[in-house]
Amino acid sequence: MRRKFFVGGNWKCNGTSDEVNKIVSTLNAGQIPAADIVEVVVSPPFVFIPCVKIGLKPEFQVAAQNCWVKKGGAFTGEISAEMLANLSIPWVIIGHSERRALLNETNEFVGEKVAYALSQGLKVIACVGETLEEREAGTTMQVVAAQTKAIADKISSWDNVVLAYEPVWAIGTGKVATPAQAQEVHAELRKWLETNTKPEVAASTRIIYGGSVNGSNCKELGGQQDVDGFLVGGASLKPEFIDINQGC
Ligand code: G3H
Repeated sequence: MRRKFFVGGNWKCNGTSDEVNKIVSTLNAGQIPAADIVEVVVSPPFVFIPCVKIGLKPEFQVAAQNCWVKKGGAFTGEISAEMLANLSIPWVIIGHSERRALLNETNEFVGEKVAYALSQGLKVIACVGETLEEREAGTTMQVVAAQTKAIADKISSWDNVVLAYEPVWAIGTGKVATPAQAQEVHAELRKWLETNTKPEVAASTRIIYGGSVNGSNCKELGGQQDVDGFLVGGASLKPEFIDINQGC
């Protein structure tokens, strides 16, 4: 089954309104492949989502970087999945390692969030990935399998999920995984999906790579059999993001 390439741009906690307007202008001026070749989603900080959504040409979709784990209410500072759906924001990133590490989001909490976001009609970019210590200890697959299982345990369909493999040691470090390292984990994750969900899920779920992806390394990474796209951080704030899409 052919899987459509997926490129996400995670702007993280960056940008002023002027800078955001500049990125939007740059993206609008760039050429990206047709919608049947690649799906492109950018994820600005919450406060900029409405203006980015209005300003960007329709080839680009928009994602939030997080949402609350259940129905909104008395949860100061949180943004609910219902709010995102109400504003027609189609995608949300859940389980990014920065939130797992800095905000103590557990595997179970991430699984619950994914399930709730899906129940509200959102599509989810669900992140998994091992730390350097875990890789060096040889436990990469155990770690990403446990993270994926916590999601699988809570959801009944993977139709609206993109799985992002982001080794923590490669995020923001310039130390990108080699194409072989990325392919190895992606293939194992696909095998995990095949064994623990359904073969159709394994064949159709897009598994994207994140961690120091840039205009120079994207071609080789994206050429791996089980790498179905990228979740790009730093380079998504630069004109280079267009090159990453063109290279796929
Ligand atoms: O969500 C994106 C990842 O954290 C990758 O970030 O491209 O800056 O390494 P990076």
